[in-house]
Amino acid sequence: MATMHVARYNYRDQFGEDPTPLMRQVSEMLLAGRYILTGEVDGFESDFAAFLGVKHARGLNSGTDALTIALRACGVTQGAEVITQANTFHATVAAIRLCGARPVLVDAEERSFSLDARQLAGAITPRTRAVIPVHLYGQPAPMGAILAQVRDGRIAVIEDAAQAVGARIDGRPVGSLGAAACFSFHPSKNLAAAGDGGAVATNDGDLDRQVRLLRELGQDGQNHHVVVGLNSKLDAIQAAVLRYKLPRLPEWNARRREVAAAYRERLANLPLRFQHVEPAEEHVYHLFQVRTDRRDDLLRHVRAAGVDAVVRYPTPIHLQPAFADLGWRKGDFPVAERLAEELLCLPIRPDLTRDEIDYVADCVRSFFRGR
Ligand SMILES: Cc1ncc(COP(=O)(O)O)c(C=O)c1O
Repeated sequence: MATMHVARYNYRDQFGEDPTPLMRQVSEMLLAGRYILTGEVDGFESDFAAFLGVKHARGLNSGTDALTIALRACGVTQGAEVITQANTFHATVAAIRLCGARPVLVDAEERSFSLDARQLAGAITPRTRAVIPVHLYGQPAPMGAILAQVRDGRIAVIEDAAQAVGARIDGRPVGSLGAAACFSFHPSKNLAAAGDGGAVATNDGDLDRQVRLLRELGQDGQNHHVVVGLNSKLDAIQAAVLRYKLPRLPEWNARRREVAAAYRERLANLPLRFQHVEPAEEHVYHLFQVRTDRRDDLLRHVRAAGVDAVVRYPTPIHLQPAFADLGWRKGDFPVAERLAEELLCLPIRPDLTRDEIDYVADCVRSFFRGR
């Protein structure tokens, strides 16, 4: 089998055949000094809110800031507890700590890899102020089951939708289902800025006002600061890039689903498992994960053949040195630990060709055939 390089990203493709109008717009912005909270930012915020079907979306520096600001806007401070899952990206939990709150973890559900909603009731205490379900790898978390467990009005459900822009449950976009939702536009994401970027979406006007205050150092008028905030405004050039790309996102997400379906078909009958998706859930396949207890050997095999596979994430939250002071131990969240050892992401991009899909599938099949 001739070696082919199958890359994880193709940024050129995301700009379409003729990116000249965007390039012209960015040059004009650079030369005119249109950098901070310009019409481009307002325009992207209203387009993005309309895309999600929510009343408000605010552009911020990153998904990490979106989580930190959403938590603070929901009143999470020192002494509060915030529940999330042990198998997420570091930023979800870092944001909780950046607010001075205590993260409380629950395990993942074995088949869907989502937060196990059955464990929520046991994790809620009088100090719980928020729950963060993560729409992990682009798969919607079970929001119905989660919202049903969190009936205390003092507990905000904040969606970490960093990996799931455009995903839906029963036709409703993720990011419109909790008190607030956080998005990342990191270049790796399905909707990618040309650098860092993020957003908080909400239907709650008071929350949105808090988000606006907190992204501008708590300023509610020139040089009048009513709270201590962050400096976290979506860069205007990033807003122009995101606004240019947003109309193509539904087509890209549909294409990602087709690629995932092709992988599932070509990899059927191998000793591999896939993320379980309920019929009501529309996954957007930020990542396509295969699960095997021979993960590290499979990774070496496909990488040697030129396939840009990668492990996301090899260490679960409770075993990260940054959280050592919280007293978590190996064995505390066994499903998250197994997923960290067994999941492998195969390359997935909207523009992946049939030849590339076949090549990746052949590489995986050849590993299990022992060749
Ligand atoms: C689940 C999750 N939450 C939060 C973030 C943080 O986003 P950012 O990198 O934009 O700060 C990311 C992405 O990196 C993520 O994957």
